[in-house]
Amino acid sequence: MSNTLVVVGAQWGDEGKGKITDFYAGGADVVVRHQGGNNAGHTIVFDGKKFALQSIPSGVFNPHIINVMANGMVINPVSLLEELDRLHKAGITDYKLYISDRAACVMPYHAMLDGAYEALKGGRQIGTTKKGIGPAYTDKYSRVGIRMGDLLDKEYFAERLKDALAQKNIELQALGMEPCDFDTIYNQYLALGEQLRPMICDTSVLLNRLVEDGKKVLFEGAQGVMLCIDHGTYPFVTSSSPTAASVPVNTGLAPRYVDNVMGVAKAYTTRVGEGPFPTELFDERAEYIRERGHEYGTVTGRPRRVGWLDAVVLNHVRRISGLNYLSLMLFDVLSGLEKIRICTGYKLDGKHIDYVPSTIAQLERVEAEYIELDGWMEDITSIKNYDELPANAKAYIAKVEELTRTEVAVVSVGPDREQTIIRKDIF
Ligand code: IMP
Repeated sequence: MSNTLVVVGAQWGDEGKGKITDFYAGGADVVVRHQGGNNAGHTIVFDGKKFALQSIPSGVFNPHIINVMANGMVINPVSLLEELDRLHKAGITDYKLYISDRAACVMPYHAMLDGAYEALKGGRQIGTTKKGIGPAYTDKYSRVGIRMGDLLDKEYFAERLKDALAQKNIELQALGMEPCDFDTIYNQYLALGEQLRPMICDTSVLLNRLVEDGKKVLFEGAQGVMLCIDHGTYPFVTSSSPTAASVPVNTGLAPRYVDNVMGVAKAYTTRVGEGPFPTELFDERAEYIRERGHEYGTVTGRPRRVGWLDAVVLNHVRRISGLNYLSLMLFDVLSGLEKIRICTGYKLDGKHIDYVPSTIAQLERVEAEYIELDGWMEDITSIKNYDELPANAKAYIAKVEELTRTEVAVVSVGPDREQTIIRKDIF
């Protein structure tokens, strides 16, 4: 048992991290979002009602949990306040939420630039969520970003915004858009800062104190490691690092506090947006999985691309994020398929490889190599004990463990919290 647990998406996002985070949040004192912004969509079922959270940590439904939006995030204050408003309207008013003063602020020009950059790419769009995530991170690294704490200091914010607009307005105009008006943005964002002021603080100080006091901390990943800016399928990635390795930098906590990592993977693979996907399926089996798994984007509603489980991808993620355990999600979706495949390696230009090549050009050329397993026909959605699963379903899980050298600690057989087979207590 450990006091900290990092939940990591082990594929291209949408693995069902919301359910797993929600599950472990029950035993946590603190839930932390450490990267990304409102490009994520976590669906949480609470009191029989469905909530789609975008940037707020999943512990918000429990009044005893301290929720932290850490410095590695990009936060859109307008949509954050809308998200809070939706929660208030649903009667969720008793919560603890802290926002890092060092988190990057998503500004109106970021969404404008996100759309414009995509349009410039001709046929090679990334398929971003157009929420301004990439441009906000770009500004952070170009050192013209506005941070959440900046909004709380009138003079300082004026200086920062002037510097940012000096650059951004040139870009906007060059791309055929209207420049942004300083006064409009300044007044709007000062007011937003005032609304959020009670929640904005140095969350690194807060988190270190909580960890040192022995509190149990859950780090909630957004997106998946294959969308990592460093280790994902670049450039078809998001602009942050959803790995466990990024947690210390993204939160201001020492690496020694990060000791337990749960990788969350679907029993198959999905991807939204563009980019290579070696195990993608295009036939009626994709349709079968898409419909049974309700594979449509939470944020954008786009149908997700669907394919077989890819052990090369899972091993890439295990290596980079140091996975201790796997949660195998949407396992029930595979019921009814006569044969199920798992990708065990790739063939690149006639040669066998067992790693993810770094360029898209190469990844587009790989052919997936598969093993084929017998499927099972039984409905498994009400099974609570591993032993009751059909023999072929157990054989599938055993194969995943063998291929990834990682213990499958959790198997999810349906969307509800009860539809979860726990094989090992880890947090
Ligand atoms: P961005 O994060 O909006 O810049 O989008 C970059 C890529 O990441 C696109 O392919 C998006 O579809 C993908 N992406 C971003 N957030 C998520 C997510 O939460 N789940 C799945 N894909 C995502």
